[in-house]
Amino acid sequence: MSTKSSIEGPLSFEGTLPEHVAIIMDGNGRWAQQQGKLRTFGHKAGVKAVRASVSYARKNGIKALTLFAFSSENWKRPKDEITILIELFNLVLSSEIKKLNKNNIRLKVIGDLSAFDQKLVDKIRKAEFLTKHNTSLTLNIAANYGGRWDIVTAAQRIADDVKQGLVKLEEITEDIFDKYTCMSDLPALDLVIRTGGDHRISNFLLWQCAYAEFYFCETLWPDFDEQKFENAIVDFCQRQRRFGQTGSQVSPDNQGQG
Ligand code: IPE
Ligand code: IPE
Ligand code: MG
Repeated sequence: MSTKSSIEGPLSFEGTLPEHVAIIMDGNGRWAQQQGKLRTFGHKAGVKAVRASVSYARKNGIKALTLFAFSSENWKRPKDEITILIELFNLVLSSEIKKLNKNNIRLKVIGDLSAFDQKLVDKIRKAEFLTKHNTSLTLNIAANYGGRWDIVTAAQRIADDVKQGLVKLEEITEDIFDKYTCMSDLPALDLVIRTGGDHRISNFLLWQCAYAEFYFCETLWPDFDEQKFENAIVDFCQRQRRFGQTGSQVSPDNQGQG
């Protein structure tokens, strides 16, 4: 597929666009500290990059965008920072939901919400309900999410269904297991972007990453914008995904790529 970017300018790219992109939005704290400011200033500045990413994804026909907002390990941070991160999530949810809905975006939140205040959980559920029939993009926010938590929760739910006789042990395949994980209703994960210069997964989508492509960039999250997103997409489009096959099996015309 040949695709023209939605960003103004000469850039256009060839290749198959990712349907589902996930982003580890890292580097807020360092961005603020570089300017002699408090880390929380960086979290606030990061909201602009979230808006830009959502807009880019929607305009370019990406079907699902999963954003890592708060990990199950982020509870280890100073209490003040945690409070501000949750408050910010709450505020942004209130201020953006109308616009998301107007732009035909479906909002979903994944993660262990039991750790959050009931009022916030109600607000999340209301926002999900309001936007549930929207079709342009699914914006999937990972909050108090951990990849290991996702896998363990799926295993517990399957065990429960086995106990109740709804599933037979010998019927459990990878596809069945997948249906019990958090993102089973979304297209398979194609691309994971991590900003902030570190090359690790930090307990993000462990099950779903099995055959995702990875793109790491030095940009600190508040400086990520539509052009930076496009750079990642262009890079993705140039890759050959082999899924265990040989290069010539995947692309008989292009024998050179492995
Ligand atoms: C990512 O930025 C945001 C969250 C983890 C919530 P960081 O806060 O991790 O920023 P750095 O990595 O310390 O710069
Ligand atoms: C990953 O970033 C989590 C989020 C972006 C929400 P961290 O900053 O928490 O990851 P580590 O601690 O560097 O692995
Ligand atoms: Mg970090």
